[in-house]
Amino acid sequence: MELVAKTLYGFEEVLKEELVALGAKDVKVGNRVVTFSGDMKLLYTANLWLRTAISILLPIKQFRFADEKDLYRKFSKINFSEIMEVTDTFAAKGAVNSKLFNHSGYPMLVLKDAIADHFRAKCGERPSVDLLKPSILFDVHIDAHVCTVSLNSSGAPLYHRGYRKKTGEAPLNEVVAAGLLLLSGWDAKSNFVDVCCGSGTLPIEAALMANGIPPNIARKAYGFQNWKNYEEETWEAVYKAAPNQPKRDLEFKIIGSDTDGDVILRARENIKALPLGKTISFEIKDFRDQEAPEGKGILISNPPYGERLQVEEIDELYRDLGNFFKNKMQGYDCWVISSNFDALKKIELKPSKKVQVFNGSLSCDYRKFEIFSGSLVEHKYGADRNTRREPKRNKKD
Ligand SMILES: C[S@@+](CC[C@H](N)C(=O)[O-])C[C@H]1O[C@@H](n2cnc3c(N)ncnc32)[C@H](O)[C@@H]1O
Repeated sequence: MELVAKTLYGFEEVLKEELVALGAKDVKVGNRVVTFSGDMKLLYTANLWLRTAISILLPIKQFRFADEKDLYRKFSKINFSEIMEVTDTFAAKGAVNSKLFNHSGYPMLVLKDAIADHFRAKCGERPSVDLLKPSILFDVHIDAHVCTVSLNSSGAPLYHRGYRKKTGEAPLNEVVAAGLLLLSGWDAKSNFVDVCCGSGTLPIEAALMANGIPPNIARKAYGFQNWKNYEEETWEAVYKAAPNQPKRDLEFKIIGSDTDGDVILRARENIKALPLGKTISFEIKDFRDQEAPEGKGILISNPPYGERLQVEEIDELYRDLGNFFKNKMQGYDCWVISSNFDALKKIELKPSKKVQVFNGSLSCDYRKFEIFSGSLVEHKYGADRNTRREPKRNKKD
């Protein structure tokens, strides 16, 4: 089967790697999608295991169409009775990139009419639309005159992990958090620190990775469970094969800290839904008082962007963050995601990498600061300065 994993801008390559690791074939990266082929078992596995996918689609029909009437005609050729019962509820969502329509939701209404007419003609009644919790969710993708109709096997987006009951004011989307962790190249075998952790999304996603537990271990429902061809035994086998215990021998620390005691309480509440044991230590602490755990490690933080703070306050916060990296996080790679580019400059360290990502609709920079232990010279040439080779001198020097 040809399958499509949807993701967010910037995470296509890490999603491709995740799919390859799951054994997917013909894996190809597109714009906010990765296409692949596999069977039903892989479709179920992808829903449980992919950390950076928003949804997994099963395309059922692709066709060219001339105009609105033609679109209805082509939709009507789909045998919807093979896909759903009249007692099912349904909805259609998707993306439209075409000058043919003034309103991007219009093609979904045309599909709704085609489904209603199909069932009315067949059994005298039509299935109901349920935009919030449909049992069958269609995805319509239109690019100019080409339409692809798919079944959304995930149903609710896969960032609905089932563990987060309570959040702070600006929580990261779980898929974004997992994507940032994968983009950082963290090995999931060394320390992880988030000093502005809010309700704990980054430490929780890190702890799931470190324990080899699928991101959706606590999720209760998927769209494919309502399909006519749902293979319950296959799904149960996929779910039961997934680890659901914390590893006993983690020899590194995962720490989330924040000044706000309320959000730390929420973070502690959130992990109760997950089999993570004591993997994460959540602490109420200003980042200025945080210490790096011994050994190698990485820090990823999503500090405030400044909407509710004065410019001077936000500048000071980022300046102090830079000083904290220099003074306390030696030997660590420190990553910061922020949409406040002026404030990012106040860190006053040269980033060794910059990646553009989106946090919701906000375009953000995700910047890496490598904090060397000792001086940069020692890092580059070794602690024994005598072993350092002098750069070749130009004759004119
Ligand atoms: C954008 S939110 C982080 C949201 C978090 N990533 C999540 O998913 O819930 C920024 C957090 O930084 C915290 N914060 C602000 N100043 C801080 C400081 N000096 N030390 C530690 N945390 C701080 C805030 O309390 C807030 O929870």
